[in-house]
Amino acid sequence: MLKSILILLVIWSQTNAGLHRDDVTEGTELIMSFLIHRHGDRTPVESTVSYSTDVEALEALTAPYGYGQLTLPGKRSAYRLGQHIRQRYNELLSPHYNRSEVYIRSTDITRTKMTILTALAAIYPPAGETWNPKLAWEPVPYTTVPVKYDFNMALNNCPVFDAAYQSQLFTSVPEVSAKMSNVLIALSNQLGFDITNRPALVFPIYDVYTSQRNLGLKLTPELEDIFGLIEEAASESIALIFGLDEYIPLQAGVLLKEFYTYADLAISGEDTPRLRLYSAHDFNVYSFEAVTKVNRQGVPKYASAYTLELRKVTSTGKYVVLPVYLPSPREEVVYLQVEGCDVLCDYDQFVALTEGNSRDIDSWRDECGFTEDLVVDGSSED
Ligand SMILES: *[C@@H]1O[C@H](CO)[C@@H](O)[C@H](O)[C@H]1NC(C)=O
Repeated sequence: MLKSILILLVIWSQTNAGLHRDDVTEGTELIMSFLIHRHGDRTPVESTVSYSTDVEALEALTAPYGYGQLTLPGKRSAYRLGQHIRQRYNELLSPHYNRSEVYIRSTDITRTKMTILTALAAIYPPAGETWNPKLAWEPVPYTTVPVKYDFNMALNNCPVFDAAYQSQLFTSVPEVSAKMSNVLIALSNQLGFDITNRPALVFPIYDVYTSQRNLGLKLTPELEDIFGLIEEAASESIALIFGLDEYIPLQAGVLLKEFYTYADLAISGEDTPRLRLYSAHDFNVYSFEAVTKVNRQGVPKYASAYTLELRKVTSTGKYVVLPVYLPSPREEVVYLQVEGCDVLCDYDQFVALTEGNSRDIDSWRDECGFTEDLVVDGSSED
């Protein structure tokens, strides 16, 4: 009897460890969190609408918001993301906004700005003495950088990468096509043109399907049946365009450099915000996974987040990096692993393994072929 209770206890604790992963962070102190997230649910972007199964109905549903704008469900997912951030990083934050504690930066795009504003309402709910008892909201400022100069906007301001991206979208990759042939045939039948040799196109098609389903507009029954397969194919597809070793440093190398900079400051005990939030796009979340060489998680969902947690092992005083992925604000976090490192990756080893992908901003601009006369669409909706 006692023995079976013991066995049950062992099974119970193992199951719990698997679910909550408390075993990994136990015995560590959180020093800094560096988080990049995707915006909440949005209407489709203009460049993908023609791939919809019902362009006219989708245009009608989109019209009240405009292309690429946060929807009501998008605000809800942004708010839940904020609740997650407050819950997991509560120890780094005071009840009220304090500029010394948190750095908040958004891309200069309406949906990412609206997402961070909504998330901040959950991160800093009114507490104690409020400025307006009738309004359950505290103003919290964030910063932004014009699209032309923002290292998180390589798709818009890094011509070398943009050219590669445009050509990669239409490149034939037979071994990848072979893996997803059923999906490519079904999509070709729906579109009325052949994409069986264009596997990278699954990514933008999946993108518009996701936004149309979120707006309540179903795909055809045939495509609804295989939506899970389309999602899997999209994971392969995004790797074809945003997973190329040659371009990964241009996509997120400066962000990685920024992580080293602030991790070094925190380690040396300098006064630097211990929480850094970057409101951005699926492209950024995926690219940050890529530069940090973790097991990639497919197309980042709306309001997903990827965080590097800098922790100190209490017993040894050593600094480690824990990569944490939030697949969506309705799910539990999962811990990722840097290739060639432990889950809690020794900080110096982390830098050694990843620094080939890091860039300072000047060399990034040089490699990108950026020049001051570059014309960038600052109102980007794609
Ligand atoms: C804000 O945080 C800093 C650093 O932790 C602290 O010195 C300061 O007193 C805080 N300000 C307020 C108003 O709490």
